[in-house]
Amino acid sequence: MEKIKIILDVDTGSDDAIAIITALLSDELNVLGITTVNGNKPVENTTENTLRVLDAIGSKVPVYRGCCTTLISELSPARVSRVGAEETIDENGEVVAYHSEYLNLPSAKNKAQDKSAVCYIIETIMNSDDDISIVAVGPLTNIATAMRAEPRIINKIKRIVLMGGGYKVANVTPAAEFNIWKDPEAAQIVITSGANVLLVPLDATHAGCMTYKESEEFRKIGTPSSNIVAELIEERIKAYNAMQPMEIPDSAPPHDALAVCAIIDESVLKDIRFERIDVDFSGGLCDGMTVIDERPFTPPKNAYIALGCDRNKFINMVRQRLIKNKLSK
Ligand code: RIB
Ligand code: CA
Repeated sequence: MEKIKIILDVDTGSDDAIAIITALLSDELNVLGITTVNGNKPVENTTENTLRVLDAIGSKVPVYRGCCTTLISELSPARVSRVGAEETIDENGEVVAYHSEYLNLPSAKNKAQDKSAVCYIIETIMNSDDDISIVAVGPLTNIATAMRAEPRIINKIKRIVLMGGGYKVANVTPAAEFNIWKDPEAAQIVITSGANVLLVPLDATHAGCMTYKESEEFRKIGTPSSNIVAELIEERIKAYNAMQPMEIPDSAPPHDALAVCAIIDESVLKDIRFERIDVDFSGGLCDGMTVIDERPFTPPKNAYIALGCDRNKFINMVRQRLIKNKLSK
């Protein structure tokens, strides 16, 4: 079967790292390039972290550094005063964080390409007649900027699967999910662009939490990829236990990996709906909220959103890739 060609846009990040490994170990995918963006950490960090992961698993997929700041939101300090901790001291007196400044991996030997992420996205899509999709698991700044600079890519992109948003679930504020909240204007541009967009929101990713059972099983596989994934799952469980306990005790959602699995096999998601979705970018209490208008007389619907996931299928998809441990391509 022909591989699905994707550009993977990341803000690496602990769960982005799991997503990168899952994507590169998927025979179904041809990861043309990885673009990095300012998000969990500054773009210098997210780029270095991405390169560290690729070095650690022996991948030569090219990396392109992306936007260093959001389109507009970071111009207003009040809008980026993140509500809620990103790290804390847990009950064992250990510093725990969703994302460390740099991943606990050797400094990258690989370098990012000279070309910027936005130019790479535009040139790759404009110069190809192939179906190319985008899997975006960080703030949507790169994608929105590329769309604004070259609107012709919108109809050429086969589909955009993005980790972001929430229907009844939020994290960074009472109303918003981090990727959308970090750059709400970019999210509104992408989600209402007319491209074929599927949101994998917190409602889906929180249904796909992994536990120490999975991390211990993955560690037994004994490869660099499986060891990295196991360690990151365990780091995330400690952070979630301390700051955002999940329904399943001692578990954490590897959000971004679910978006990668979704573009491979959409049946890993549940309750996919085609809705009218907009993003609040008014800078108030609900800044960054994904607003799903379910009224019967709403304006044209514009995006798909999955409100659940098949947790066992998700865990199996990651497990199978770690066991096979064969870099795609
Ligand atoms: O809200 C979860 C998202 O924010 C994930 O992509 C995680 O990496 C962070 O970027
Ligand atoms: Ca991310």
